[in-house]
Amino acid sequence: MIPLKKDEITPEWFYINRRQFLRSAALVGAGAVLAACAPGVTPTPEEEAVITTQAIGPDGEELTPYESITTYNNFYEFSLFKEKVAELASDYNTDNWQIEVSGLVKNPTTFTMQDILDNFEQEERIYRLRCVEGWSMVIPWVGFSLSKLLDVVGPTADAQYVRFESDMDEKQMPNVSKPTFPWPYQEGLRLDEAQNDLATLATGLYGKPMPGQNGAPIRMVVPWKYGFKSAKSIKKIELVAQQPDTFWNTSAPNEYGFYSNVNPNVPHPRWMQDSERRIGELKRRPTLMFNGYEDEVGYLYEGMDLRINY
Ligand code: MTE
Repeated sequence: MIPLKKDEITPEWFYINRRQFLRSAALVGAGAVLAACAPGVTPTPEEEAVITTQAIGPDGEELTPYESITTYNNFYEFSLFKEKVAELASDYNTDNWQIEVSGLVKNPTTFTMQDILDNFEQEERIYRLRCVEGWSMVIPWVGFSLSKLLDVVGPTADAQYVRFESDMDEKQMPNVSKPTFPWPYQEGLRLDEAQNDLATLATGLYGKPMPGQNGAPIRMVVPWKYGFKSAKSIKKIELVAQQPDTFWNTSAPNEYGFYSNVNPNVPHPRWMQDSERRIGELKRRPTLMFNGYEDEVGYLYEGMDLRINY
């Protein structure tokens, strides 16, 4: 574990929602320590430290250190080299960010980040992240269920899918002006997948605001799917009737399907999918169906052939 300095844990941004976050963290992560902490009671620095530096996730798995999560990244808008992303993206300016939620909804809304933090209770959510390249991490995100935001905008009866669009700021992102890829980065989920409680809009990790390299200021986390389904730095969420195009499916349809559920039984042309390397470990470990979240999401795919709908 990396020791976090006090001033690293509570930057100005975090004070805004600190109480709210601590209340929910008490439920999820550090119940024993904060059980006596009534809403609104300010915890001691020691209590805070427990929340932000706990080493073990809910299933007894070790959290991946902050240092690894923030220095080994896929963020193609900045660089194709994982070790270079942090250097290029850590100063990514996301001031005055707005996220537009539109399309087939009753109340189209453009949220500022302040609106997001004021209206949606932030909680700690510890999930495995499994990249299609065969590596994995366990990450303590800060965020909330996408379904809560969908409830506010109200999908119409025609809405069948949710489309996510990432930022494409040529001034800050060196690769988006190059035609190598079909920018902007876009992703999609079926509406019922998007409404599953695990589908998360994340605004931070390890109790801190989202670092640039991890998709500041707000990104998706879809823990039962390969990591590329979790679009970073989202500017637009659109409810649509047809299955949307996605960045990787457009780039290489034979390698990346629309569903891309973590599935050890469906091989990939280039990477092993029945096992994975947890960052920080030497031995590979078996990959779990739906990344270990079958009980929570299995119902979404009943009756579907996941070899065809890969
Ligand atoms: N989102 C955008 N906008 N651009 C990207 O290149 N890479 C994806 C996903 N989201 C990517 C993205 C991939 S391949 C993975 S594995 C995860 O982000 C990595 O997230 P992390 O760097 O926070 O671990």
